Amino acid sequence: MGYQILDGKSTAERLRKDIAERVKTTVAQGGKRPCLVAVIVGNNPASVAYVSNKDKACREVGFESRLLQLNTDITELELIEEIKKLNRDKEVDGIIVQLPLPSHINPDAVIAAMDPAKDVDGFHPISAGKLMLGLPTFYPATPMGIVTLLREYNIETRGKHCVVLGRSNIVGRPIANMLSQKGIAKTASLSGGCGVSGDCTVTVCHSRTPDIKKFTLQADIIIAAIGKANFLTADMVKDGAVVIDVGINSVEDPDSPRGWKLVGDVDFEAVAPKCSYITPVPGGCGPMTIVSLLENTLIAAENK
Ligand SMILES: NC(=O)c1ccc[n+]([C@@H]2O[C@H](COP(=O)([O-])OP(=O)(O)OC[C@H]3O[C@@H](n4cnc5c(N)ncnc54)[C@H](OP(=O)(O)O)[C@@H]3O)[C@@H](O)[C@H]2O)c1
Repeated sequence: MGYQILDGKSTAERLRKDIAERVKTTVAQGGKRPCLVAVIVGNNPASVAYVSNKDKACREVGFESRLLQLNTDITELELIEEIKKLNRDKEVDGIIVQLPLPSHINPDAVIAAMDPAKDVDGFHPISAGKLMLGLPTFYPATPMGIVTLLREYNIETRGKHCVVLGRSNIVGRPIANMLSQKGIAKTASLSGGCGVSGDCTVTVCHSRTPDIKKFTLQADIIIAAIGKANFLTADMVKDGAVVIDVGINSVEDPDSPRGWKLVGDVDFEAVAPKCSYITPVPGGCGPMTIVSLLENTLIAAENK
């Protein structure tokens, strides 16, 4: 049986074009460009790289993108004050705080200080609570990218068994929640109208789950989000499964000039032949995450 690649790169490219068109029309009609502010504390190279990717993506679709880079020695209260300023700034539609923050700052306190109407990362407790209740809200970008990809490829979720590997607040928990919603989960979505399909039976596995293979072998859909290179092997996957690889891991690669390469949580070469659909790494969930952030920012601007 042949497998099909869930091409996040080209899907995201298409969705980005739709967003850019929408911005162009708004601006032509005298409206303002959506504005996203990224807050970053310190200059951790990985965080700087993530933020500059988001900045580039914003500019490409015609958004205004601002970076608020703050010194590592900023106090929690000072940072919260900065967030409150952004909350009050009428020009700003979306705010993201790049994590991790330095250890003297409690990220929960900072995120809770954000206006939920500008919480385009969907990390605020109000956003998370609404997601759990099935109310319309901003959904975190990575899970939103996954459900968008499933929708774009017409992959049925109703009645399917989905096994999620990982229970983080940014990937595992929200995707498990979204896919188990009754009927249509009400994400704020541009292209999908009002939602993404749920009705999955969901199993969440984590580092305390014994014999993960027992669960993955029963799965119609596997979502791997644990951050362990090539964790999901062919013997753990049943024939015809849909496999979504969220992991981003850097491993040594003597064949690459830089000496390393990025791989997912799935042993792609061995697993792919057993699948009906599978995401590659890179080019799967990564670009879908960024376009989902753009989509949330556009919606935040339009909600105003
Ligand atoms: N493509 C994207 O845009 C994107 C976005 C976000 C994240 N990611 C990637 O996705 C991966 C996960 O990210 P995250 O932020 O969710 O990570 P995280 O916060 O570190 O959470 C990892 C989860 O995996 C579980 N886990 C770790 N080792 C395990 C094992 N051996 N067996 C079973 N479960 C295990 C942990 O269990 P416990 O809860 O028991 O500790 C935890 O729930 C990372 O590689 C990250 O870089 C990619």
